[in-house]
Amino acid sequence: MRALVFLLLVAAATAKVFEQCELARTLKAAGMDGYRGVSLGGWVCVAKWESSYDTAATHPNRDKSRDYGIFQINSRYWCNNGVTPTSNGCNISCDLLTDDISDSITCAKRVVSDPRGIRAWVAWRKHCHREDLSQYVAGCGV
Ligand SMILES: *[C@@H]1O[C@H](CO)[C@@H](O)[C@H](O)[C@H]1NC(C)=O
Repeated sequence: MRALVFLLLVAAATAKVFEQCELARTLKAAGMDGYRGVSLGGWVCVAKWESSYDTAATHPNRDKSRDYGIFQINSRYWCNNGVTPTSNGCNISCDLLTDDISDSITCAKRVVSDPRGIRAWVAWRKHCHREDLSQYVAGCGV
């Protein structure tokens, strides 16, 4: 029990909700602007609708897999959570819920490099495709 409380405190201490422009700057610095043809606004849009910019976001799926972090990386295909059988395409742990989003970014680049591209994200298909994506970086100076 004490260990559990400690783990929860650690998770709470290091998770983070990004400001929109802060995320835009972080993604730009990581080379995401235009990566595989997806604009910076497109990436920010995906993060907004997948996680509300909250690195601690997780979401259970019907197939018992789980999605993790700012880009909701899936435990069946892309990361290993030690529970779901996984192909672990990004060769990473699903421990993606901290303020350091570098693993999430690297994995998102891997995901978007598959034939499905950015359409791998439900949020893209529902909220970003055909929208004005410049609004997601407006006023950010990026
Ligand atoms: C996967 O990650 C492990 C540990 O980080 C590393 O040793 C291994 O070489 C990686 N495998 C591939 C296929 O990249």
